[in-house]
Amino acid sequence: MDNGKRTSFLKERSGFEVDKIKSIAVTGKGGTGKTVLATLLIQLLAERFKDRVLAIDADSAMSLPYTLGVKVGKTVSEMKNELIGSNQAKQRLNAGGSTKNAMRELLSKGNGFDLLAMGRPEEPGCFCAVNDLLRFGIDALIDEYDITLIDGEAGPEQLNRRVLKSIDVLLVVADMSARSLETAAGIMKVAQGVNGGVKVKKAGLVLNRVRDDKPSDEMLKKIGLDVFGYIPEDSLVNEYDRAGKSLLELPSDSPCPMAVRRILQHILPETF
Ligand SMILES: Nc1ncnc2c1ncn2[C@@H]1O[C@H](COP(=O)(O)OP(=O)(O)O)[C@@H](O)[C@H]1O
Ligand SMILES: [Mg+2]
Repeated sequence: MDNGKRTSFLKERSGFEVDKIKSIAVTGKGGTGKTVLATLLIQLLAERFKDRVLAIDADSAMSLPYTLGVKVGKTVSEMKNELIGSNQAKQRLNAGGSTKNAMRELLSKGNGFDLLAMGRPEEPGCFCAVNDLLRFGIDALIDEYDITLIDGEAGPEQLNRRVLKSIDVLLVVADMSARSLETAAGIMKVAQGVNGGVKVKKAGLVLNRVRDDKPSDEMLKKIGLDVFGYIPEDSLVNEYDRAGKSLLELPSDSPCPMAVRRILQHILPETF
């Protein structure tokens, strides 16, 4: 199906212009709740766009497979090392233009979504040709899905280098600590291109583990971010994480999943 036909077909089916938002990335300081947010977003997106959702774990800590309850095999980094070690493998990819197929082999199947794990970040040294090849493969793969959700590293510049050149919606997660809010402000500057980062269409702050202490409007103005949503402290999330239980098993009416649904309603109002 050509792209135009596919778009109108999907528009008819889902009632919204899929061309608008095709990628959402979650960034923010470590430990602020990126993976929790990413997991619950993937669950809701997978319900809505069944089997047309690509989840990318771009954090080297690789906790997304656990919270999603999905086993991963080989990572993109591992494949990259194989390519670097073997000219034959590289030539085969270059010749056949089958980087996308090679990427497909790395996918793990979840309930309504596929998962790609980036693995460890790069070793020192430049393997630019291989990097370009892999990013080309990821780009081609993303085209096959309606929406891609990336659980990212601390900033969009890493995402730019390793995963995507542009991101439609960047969610910057912060808890209520001054440091995580400062990190969020820094990420926002990069996203706005101050340091030549990845192209971002829309960015907003998600405040996590909020109790009764929302930051003042003055503080938020200083950070320069729109607030896309608040997520309350949810003791079940902690409990599930400690027990190594997938967060997909959380009751849908518990505070965290409900707050994440509201965030999706904010960024994809026609769909949720
Ligand atoms: N809203 C929340 N309520 C309770 N615990 C949370 C909440 N958000 C995150 N956590 C806990 O905080 C820890 C860090 O969250 P995680 O999503 O792994 O952060 P990150 O991916 O940013 O490093 C986890 O143990 C998680 O269970
Ligand atoms: Mg994480």
